[in-house]
Amino acid sequence: MEESAALAELADRLRGAVAQAPGGILPFEDFMRRALYEPELGYYERGSGRVGRDGDFYTSVSVGPLFGELLGHQLADWLGTLDSPPCLVESGAHDARLAGDILAWLETSRPALFESLTYWLVEPSPARESWQRERLARFGERVRWTASIPRIQGIHFSNELLDAFPVRPVRWSVARQDWEEVGVVTTAGSFHETPFQRRSDTPIPDLPAEVLAVLPDGFTTEFSPAAEAWWSQAATQVTSGYLLAIDYGLTAEEFLVPQRARGTRRGYRHHRWVEDLLAHPGDCDLTAHVNFTRIQTAGERQGWHTERLADQRLGLTDIFRRVLTEPRGFGEWTPARQRQFQTLTHPEHLGRSFRWLVQSRRP
Ligand SMILES: C[S@@+](CC[C@H](N)C(=O)[O-])C[C@H]1O[C@@H](n2cnc3c(N)ncnc32)[C@H](O)[C@@H]1O
Repeated sequence: MEESAALAELADRLRGAVAQAPGGILPFEDFMRRALYEPELGYYERGSGRVGRDGDFYTSVSVGPLFGELLGHQLADWLGTLDSPPCLVESGAHDARLAGDILAWLETSRPALFESLTYWLVEPSPARESWQRERLARFGERVRWTASIPRIQGIHFSNELLDAFPVRPVRWSVARQDWEEVGVVTTAGSFHETPFQRRSDTPIPDLPAEVLAVLPDGFTTEFSPAAEAWWSQAATQVTSGYLLAIDYGLTAEEFLVPQRARGTRRGYRHHRWVEDLLAHPGDCDLTAHVNFTRIQTAGERQGWHTERLADQRLGLTDIFRRVLTEPRGFGEWTPARQRQFQTLTHPEHLGRSFRWLVQSRRP
């Protein structure tokens, strides 16, 4: 289907969903899910070129192969501490560039490990699976696909997946002295936000009465029950080993500050922020910061131990230090690699806003 026809069809379906929702209000969470993932029409379903210079946003992977090479080094080290046959599981691989960088590095730098490795890509979308198969064809039987997280011993990881789960925003109403949910209505065919009475399973911020007494009307924040459920599932399916999430995000307290009074939801289109999150369904990325405290708690509830929640600068410089002491197979530290390292770790670039959550569980 042509791009403009697909977008028109998606907008029509969303209008239909609003019309059919109770009270004519569609929860923002449902709007976001469908705008991103409606089969064949959603933003992430239609094209692989969302990430990078010609897309809408950059990730650490678009900076160059160094990110995957350093991550490959870390993953190989962790696999070396586990007794099970080496098994990596990546979710949210999108165009599989990161998988390609990691596999290429392991193939040349850790060939024995590579020969016995199974690399799973968790991919519920047939469209994305086909792009990934094309890119990873040369790695043959090392790579396998599954629609949901497989039951394994090993390492499960993702880069910028959790921020792509739909979020449920809540806003404080001074008049009602309560939190309301944010929903979507239509007026003359365009989408607008409106508050509605929150559902019983909607989380709300944990704030003392003294703070609620002075909280401004309309203070908004968001939760992602979908991201938390997904992490719990990973924590169940991986019976022992490591879980790693790399993403931009905050602790629960960091969400609740005056400069985030409108929450952290963002739209990106051609590397610019989109003012109206509802104006371009399917044609802009919709995302929000990850609440790492809640993700961490979801893992700990399943018996996982939190090894680290730190910014990317620390995660990568620790690996870099180990590369310096054991440079086996890492190759030359070229000017191109130095530039990539700076972008990945500099606090003004990707070093501070991105965090690494590492959890482990022994058999
Ligand atoms: C922001 S992109 C991440 C791109 C890539 N990991 C990178 O670092 O360049 C998020 C990806 O996660 C995918 N995704 C969303 N929900 C998913 C799920 N439940 N399982 C696997 N992938 C999912 C999206 O379709 C999209 O391809």
